[in-house]
Amino acid sequence: MSQLQTTLLRPMRREDIPQVVAIDQQSFPMSWSANAYLYEIEHNPLSSLVVLVRTGTGPAQLSWIDRLRQALKLNGAPGGEEIIGYGGFWFTRREAHISTIAVRPDWRGQGLGEVLLAGMVRRALGLEAELVSLEVRVSNTPALALYRKYAFAEFGVKRAYYRDNGEDAYDMRVQPLDAIYRGRFNALWEAVTARVSFVDAYTEAAIPHRAF
Ligand SMILES: CC(C)(COP(=O)(O)OP(=O)(O)OC[C@H]1O[C@@H](n2cnc3c(N)ncnc32)[C@H](O)[C@@H]1OP(=O)(O)O)[C@@H](O)C(=O)NCCC(=O)NCCS
Repeated sequence: MSQLQTTLLRPMRREDIPQVVAIDQQSFPMSWSANAYLYEIEHNPLSSLVVLVRTGTGPAQLSWIDRLRQALKLNGAPGGEEIIGYGGFWFTRREAHISTIAVRPDWRGQGLGEVLLAGMVRRALGLEAELVSLEVRVSNTPALALYRKYAFAEFGVKRAYYRDNGEDAYDMRVQPLDAIYRGRFNALWEAVTARVSFVDAYTEAAIPHRAF
């Protein structure tokens, strides 16, 4: 990565939607529509969506196809920002329910999914969430390993949860306010921030229009 480029963790904006939808379609058999993201960003006060972006991707660093996309405004994201991954949770009754998380396929395996997950857990901790929960396909080995690394435990199985192939989901949960967990989480956060160089403009950011 060039010296001029920075990796930034920040709240998702409407301009990010085209790139986010592209990653979503590459990552899930059933993807969210652009309108679904727009609703979550602009109208759902319970929703917290986050992106990991590479900024400072100036014309010199861009491939000809990306320069063409920018010229035609197909990318949508501001000023040459490239979305690497995204995630989101809904916050209600002191529960943060992680609704989605994905890293662009060519960026996987570099600690970036962990930054997104840890970033959401850290934000949930700031909101004093008593529970962080999620569903995951029982066959999704990489995601399961990531969640287990963050001490998510299998609370139960939701039979035939996924409509595309009838696959079961694990209902996974963690109680982040627990003192032992906070110690473990802080050590993981320290390790991932040492491994991945990024600017955190999300976990403690004030997001004025959010009800929580
Ligand atoms: C799940 C996902 C977000 C992980 O992102 P990533 O950037 O590749 O993951 P990271 O490099 O941050 O890895 C973090 C941890 O996840 C686990 N992990 C990641 N890839 C793995 C793999 N291929 N096999 C096993 N474990 C893996 C490991 O525990 C790893 O920790 P380690 O680096 O200490 O070994 C990514 O695979 C993805 O986008 N998958 C498609 C979308 C998806 O399935 N989302 C989850 C929906 S529930």
